[in-house]
Amino acid sequence: MKHALITALIGTSTLLASGTASAQAKPEDVIKYRKALMVMQANSVRPLAAMAKGQRPYDKDIAIRNAAILELTGKMMMETVAAGSDKGAETRAKPEIWSDAAGYKKVSDNYSAEAAKLSEAAKAGNVDALKAQIGGVIKACDSCHDAYRSK
Ligand code: HEC
Repeated sequence: MKHALITALIGTSTLLASGTASAQAKPEDVIKYRKALMVMQANSVRPLAAMAKGQRPYDKDIAIRNAAILELTGKMMMETVAAGSDKGAETRAKPEIWSDAAGYKKVSDNYSAEAAKLSEAAKAGNVDALKAQIGGVIKACDSCHDAYRSK
């Protein structure tokens, strides 16, 4: 029974299939993944920004968890712009992501570096560093959006 369930899950999961060279994920699924990752980032960054502005009490556990999510999503960022996912569903991703892939990787790496610093500050329980670094992360979000996301 357990085995049948696992087989069924693996059999129907296009995301799992995308991990193999033979089966490429459908563009619309990659676009869905890209948007979902971004929504997760927005939801993770928002409480941290509120803490930084004093609109919400500092909570070390939430800070650590959300910063860890932001660090992790950075590592997944390039998967969400897999070749062929420039069209196939409604998207605000600009064609430059694929025509200037090195430039995109650079802003993605910059984001990852900023998110890693945020995670360090959160784990250390360093509120001042956390507050300062939230700005660095949001700047990294914006610098990618300004160049590679249409309005
Ligand atoms: C390396 C580039 C890059 C970085 C860094 C980045 N984004 Fe994005 N973001 C995009 C692209 C490209 C889109 C457009 C996705 C689409 O429409 O296919 C997008 C779309 C979004 C959306 C709209 C999602 C939707 O449902 O259509 C939100 C919200 C968002 N980003 C938030 C964030 C936040 C918050 C951060 C930082 C914590 C961030 N992004 C960092 C490239 C980036």
